[in-house]
Amino acid sequence: MTDRVNRRWLVAKPLEGKPTAENFRWDESPVPSVPDGHFLVRNRWLSLDPTQVLMLPQGDPPKGPVPIGGVMGGITVSEVVESRHPGFSVGDIVHGEMAWEDYTVSDGSGFNPAYRVPDGVPLDWATGVLGLTGLVAYFGLHEIGKPRPGETFVISGAAGGVGSVASQLAKIAGLRVIGIAGSPTKCDWLVQEAGVDAAINYHEEDVAQRLTELCPDGIDIFFDNHGGPLLETALDRLRTGGRVILCGVTAHYLADTRPPGPANLVQLIMVNGRMQGFLGRDFIPRRAEAVDAMLPLLRSGRLKAKEDVLEGLREAPKGLVRLFSGDNIGKQLLRFEEPPGSGGAEGQGPA
Ligand SMILES: NC(=O)c1ccc[n+]([C@@H]2O[C@H](COP(=O)([O-])OP(=O)(O)OC[C@H]3O[C@@H](n4cnc5c(N)ncnc54)[C@H](OP(=O)(O)O)[C@@H]3O)[C@@H](O)[C@H]2O)c1
Repeated sequence: MTDRVNRRWLVAKPLEGKPTAENFRWDESPVPSVPDGHFLVRNRWLSLDPTQVLMLPQGDPPKGPVPIGGVMGGITVSEVVESRHPGFSVGDIVHGEMAWEDYTVSDGSGFNPAYRVPDGVPLDWATGVLGLTGLVAYFGLHEIGKPRPGETFVISGAAGGVGSVASQLAKIAGLRVIGIAGSPTKCDWLVQEAGVDAAINYHEEDVAQRLTELCPDGIDIFFDNHGGPLLETALDRLRTGGRVILCGVTAHYLADTRPPGPANLVQLIMVNGRMQGFLGRDFIPRRAEAVDAMLPLLRSGRLKAKEDVLEGLREAPKGLVRLFSGDNIGKQLLRFEEPPGSGGAEGQGPA
């Protein structure tokens, strides 16, 4: 394996403001050998996630989980091509923490521990709608939100990776769904394709006024992917017994200083409301529940896997940039091409 080239992206510069292509440097090195207790994967699909910016060094002196010159990390769906690990065999398809490179050596551990993808699941779905993104949407809605049919559900980041799945699952659960998103194209997709009841473009519309019109009796569940001012707007409209699902804070990941919190937390007291954060990785042991529920919906077309796919490892920096320019619609994914010199012997699994 060591005579093969491992194409990869290294971190080149600390993060200053939004991520750019200049934060990364292309590199080619030999494919690493595999120590005892580890396995080697060929990466097949990469999930681009807003929290990946938190891996980049920041500050003075710059500090972060991936140092300058380190390989950029990311969650992938990958094929095991060599194994000295008792839990993973050659040919297994795994979901786990790998990197922006063709081949990664792993022991399967990490914040999101590696797991085998069930047979027959398309690899793009395994990376997105049935990967961590889908787990977050499914368990965030059902476990944290505890929805009841007929309730009013409002969601920020509604046309993103998590949001596009959660919005549709909320409709399927019989809720009235209002999606908040950042462009007319996203709002059109939400109403026309995802089937939500209404969409608000928060860049162009007065969200407070639109929510007052659209939710005259208030909001039962607010699913927050932004963590910005929309949270305060939603809290003001929370109904008795309302729930706020704290999923992500995309508005905070690039902030130099800690932004102010909502000034109206008293609203939670006044309505006996509940606001709860959660981590999708804690639901990995229960992933089969989500897959069993969502796979038939996907196969029947009731749930649409909205994917924004970049082709080839060279495009990885662009994927991260798109998340913060708001250009992605649905889950931002990247499909790896056949690595040079692999001879096509690997990668015969499902696409
Ligand atoms: N709790 C967990 O375990 C867990 C796991 C995975 C993801 N998450 C979180 O869930 C959220 C959604 O994740 P995702 O993977 O589906 O990403 P995503 O929503 O597809 O992320 C990109 C979108 O974020 C929005 N955005 C970009 N810059 C922003 C800013 N400065 N302020 C507010 N919004 C901005 C844009 O959409 P719009 O402008 O259209 O909103 C953009 O298209 C993220 O915060 C992520 O960290 C949480």
